[in-house]
Amino acid sequence: MLAVAVCMVLLAGLQAQDLQGHVSIILLGATGDLAKKYLWQGLFQLYLDEVGKGYSFSFHGAALTSTKQGQEFVAKVLQSLSCPEDVAPERCAELRGRFQQLSQYRRLRTSEDYMALSKDIEAQLQHEGLQEAGRIFYFSVPPFAYADIARSINSSCRPGPGAWLRVVLEKPFGHDRLSAQQLATELRSFFQEEEMYRVDHYLGKQAVAQILPFRDQNRKALDGLWNRHHVERVEIIMKETVDAEGRTGFYEEYGVIRDVLQNHLTEVLTLVAMELPYNVSSSEAVLRHKLQAFQALRGLHKGSAVLGQYQAYSGQVRREQQKPDSFHSLTPTFAGILVHMDNLRWEGVPFILMSGKALDERVGYVRILFRNQAYCAQTETRWVADQSQCLPRQIVFYIGHGELGSPAVLVSRNLFRPFLPSGSWKEVEDRPGLRLFGRPLSDFYAYSPVREQDAYSVLISHIFHGRKDSFITTENLLASWAFWTPLLDSLAHEAPRLYPGGAENGHLLDFEFTGTQLRFSRQQPEQLVPGPGSAPSPSDFQVLQSKYRDSLLISAWPEELIAKLADDIEATAMRAVRRFGEFHLALSGGSSPVPLFQQLATQHYGFPWAHTHLWLVDERCVPLRDPESNFQGLQVHLLQHVRVPYYNVHPMPVHLHQRLCAEEDQGAQMYASEISALVTNSSFDLVLLGMGTDGHTASLFPQSPAGLEGPQPVVLTRSPSKPHQRMSLSLPLINRARKVAILVMGRMKREITLLVSRVGHQPKKWPISGVLPSSGQLVWYMDYEAFLG
Ligand code: BG6
Repeated sequence: MLAVAVCMVLLAGLQAQDLQGHVSIILLGATGDLAKKYLWQGLFQLYLDEVGKGYSFSFHGAALTSTKQGQEFVAKVLQSLSCPEDVAPERCAELRGRFQQLSQYRRLRTSEDYMALSKDIEAQLQHEGLQEAGRIFYFSVPPFAYADIARSINSSCRPGPGAWLRVVLEKPFGHDRLSAQQLATELRSFFQEEEMYRVDHYLGKQAVAQILPFRDQNRKALDGLWNRHHVERVEIIMKETVDAEGRTGFYEEYGVIRDVLQNHLTEVLTLVAMELPYNVSSSEAVLRHKLQAFQALRGLHKGSAVLGQYQAYSGQVRREQQKPDSFHSLTPTFAGILVHMDNLRWEGVPFILMSGKALDERVGYVRILFRNQAYCAQTETRWVADQSQCLPRQIVFYIGHGELGSPAVLVSRNLFRPFLPSGSWKEVEDRPGLRLFGRPLSDFYAYSPVREQDAYSVLISHIFHGRKDSFITTENLLASWAFWTPLLDSLAHEAPRLYPGGAENGHLLDFEFTGTQLRFSRQQPEQLVPGPGSAPSPSDFQVLQSKYRDSLLISAWPEELIAKLADDIEATAMRAVRRFGEFHLALSGGSSPVPLFQQLATQHYGFPWAHTHLWLVDERCVPLRDPESNFQGLQVHLLQHVRVPYYNVHPMPVHLHQRLCAEEDQGAQMYASEISALVTNSSFDLVLLGMGTDGHTASLFPQSPAGLEGPQPVVLTRSPSKPHQRMSLSLPLINRARKVAILVMGRMKREITLLVSRVGHQPKKWPISGVLPSSGQLVWYMDYEAFLG
């Protein structure tokens, strides 16, 4: 039986109505590394902080380890627990002794063991006459063990009515979007969302936990600064000197992006980028705003990342995982990622996320660097730190380690004097000679915590107080995986750049960016281990020109192809604007044009958008805001990044009178009239088409006569796949265009490409074969996979 007696003595001074109840904390995996290093200490700290406030506690260490071994292990860990600096050694020993009396180890293996645990807790409550406040189960176990434990807790360890249950989960929370979703669904069958506390220990780091309070308490100074007009870039960095030795089993499966960027650095990013809720102490509001920040993240592509791997890594995997000598891993141990947000606050501001093992130093920070829009008339030697607008202006949340050696918040003196709560943050004394981010420490208002606290202690306290905003909700988790998974998929077969490790890395891992493209600044002198296979790289090929169905064919690797098509569209636009003062472009939807839209949005600053009219080639009969709507794709990937006058944007009227594509609403006729009123001779300057695997183009489908011939320029059609109802330009209208470009990408298109190369003019079977501009030009743009297979 646990000794709660001492605790009860402590409570004797409290009035009965002040008693808050009894809390049982069950640490699963109590003999593991995390428990040894952080969790027992965090529980001890919780005990120290809370026991005088009316709570009583019992701590149950549990694991699969035998009772005797487990007891010995836990006893040893408990002996080494430390107190805050201001507690005298004798007092600390006394407190530790009390904590030890409240803690015990038990083996938990079978469902019967869980039932017995629950019975013991109930018996203790009854025996001591205690009111139960709640139970915390801390899962410090591998995820494969989650389901069984969760089932047992749910079926036999829930506390009685009026008391809460909190289960604390440790990463990894899945490997990609799908596995995270499966794990979440499984857990949801045992626990309510409000019962689950998913830990990201970075949210417990003091400098990270200070980001929102800092933004809130310095609203006045930051209101005008925290946006794209003033912020030049944001760097979110976690550098490590350790490597993955001893953990390659885990690391091989996860790599640096899953291990660190998807969780720690993304969480930090959202705290910097999210709109500040009116009330930052409302967990609900913080979580909601965080989720909105996820929604504003622009999708990543291969070019958003640079990857590295320290040279010794593959050897370590071979040794630890018994792999053959020929084995070379592709797992990145270093990644730099360029992230953009599509919202008014952050549009155009680069967020650089970077992390790696075996680097030259251990340090973590978030650095917000402000633009410098000043010119200083005096010579530089006369610039004064708190007055000169020409010195760099930055705010840094220094997470830890590095030259400074402790968490800190730094604000350049030429920005403003920040407010930080004096009870918990104090000014750092100057350390002459110490330079941070290119400036002496004296250039900053610098604050560090009065009492440094380990992240787990902070989080354990937040779990106890039910502060859900310091944890990862299911929605938050899935939003993060939704953001990272496409990039992870696209990088799965990329060979990372090898680096020697430590200081010898030199400038090998430096990277730079233009637009949305990130690349290493220096050429790799020599790849010491070849990448897999001998696949040719894109640069080994030139853009090829030949003929396809008697028309011009341009063929290249996807990136070059898109770049070429975007260049050609811009050239066509410039010509049209020069000659006619305007450019009429009709665009298709679907996934193929997305990279094209992104390219146009980010690489074509000279595009005459102000004189461009945008039309839709086809549309699905769904509301325009529906993610399936072609217009919505255009909006997300192009329109919101460029400046097209709104009266030049012409969505198809599929949603009239609160209904979708009703014949009586005459939407198709309306669109045709709009075209005929605005486009000379109803002849578009450029129509961009795609080709479906069944030979359809626009929304003109095989065996469905609508739109293949006849006088109607715009028609309602039916697609074999959902959503079935469509609106489309007709073939005769498309064929009036001055130029038609057909974009075909991906291996899936290989068969139809071959087939269509041989068929004649048979639009009823293959509508694409009916595309033949009467006096305009037709150009096919195909990537090598579609063209060569
Ligand atoms: C963990 C990662 O989540 O964070 C480790 O799995 C990494 O690979 C660690 O070393 C870094 O945490 P900290 O607290 O040492 O910065």
